[in-house]
Amino acid sequence: MKVTLDPAMLDEVLAGLGATPRVLPAKLFYDEEGCRLFAAITELPEYYLTRTERALLAAEAGAIVATLPADSSLVEYGASTEDKALVLLDALAAAGRAARCYVPIDIATPALAALTARLAARRPGLAVAPIAADFLAPIALPAAAPRPRVGFFPGSTIGNLEPAAARAFLAQARATLGPASRFLIGVDLRKDPARLLAAYDDAAGVTAAFNRNLLVRLNREAGADFDLAQFAHEARWNAAEGRIEMHLVSRRAQQIRVAGVTLRFSEGDSIHTENCYKHSLEGFVALAGAAGWDARRVWTDADATFALYLLALGRAG
Ligand code: AVJ
Repeated sequence: MKVTLDPAMLDEVLAGLGATPRVLPAKLFYDEEGCRLFAAITELPEYYLTRTERALLAAEAGAIVATLPADSSLVEYGASTEDKALVLLDALAAAGRAARCYVPIDIATPALAALTARLAARRPGLAVAPIAADFLAPIALPAAAPRPRVGFFPGSTIGNLEPAAARAFLAQARATLGPASRFLIGVDLRKDPARLLAAYDDAAGVTAAFNRNLLVRLNREAGADFDLAQFAHEARWNAAEGRIEMHLVSRRAQQIRVAGVTLRFSEGDSIHTENCYKHSLEGFVALAGAAGWDARRVWTDADATFALYLLALGRAG
């Protein structure tokens, strides 16, 4: 048995699989195949999030950058592609307030290297200082990322975090970004559960493959012996918590070995692999406020599908 998964990640995996109910951390999705599958998800007809946010950013870029400081560093949390940041960077430059540096932060090291290489070709004059890290960990920004700093957290990735963790993340980002910072965050909003469920259980089965890829990864990197055919992909709307949940549900009683540990599943037992919180417009304002950020502006599409919030430091900052 060969275990190549990072030891800290392996500890998290074993703790999660040993817990009741069983859970896996969402960051485990993003190996190379997971990044490729997520990129495919963003193109699916059912997955409205990416195209809605992209259209909103393009439509409001001028208004958004009018709220941002000049000569800033743009710090993107969970940067899987440069496309959204480029909309902001280009609009800042067009407004005569070009950013001095772009700092993409992501846990998927190969994807981050590819992003950095593409940017060198697409915007040769731009200073780029990538950071390969889990954005939930405390991050020290390099001196090459001068203040003021503008945080950017698109894609509703903040929805992966339970409210207490989201609050802690936002408070930590306040400290990381420092004085006079701004934070632009993309948030998927509450809507008809049928539309949400379709976005997380698409007809082509790409999301199911993305979810099951966790097991493929554990088989390869954590000496596990999951039989993929024996775990069903399920998306569930949890109305009480206001979140979509993704699960892998055991189709029968079975025993699985992971890194030398035996796990026993009954039929119907699930591994809870992801939460995607869907906030109300006011709910997210309150969450940001609890972390010391003031929501100064919010932009949404005509149907209030998705929101972009511009946060500034609140009274305490
Ligand atoms: C990248 C976390 C924003 O929650 O919608 C897509 C991940 N999971 N389909 C999301 C995801 C299933 C996505 N985020």
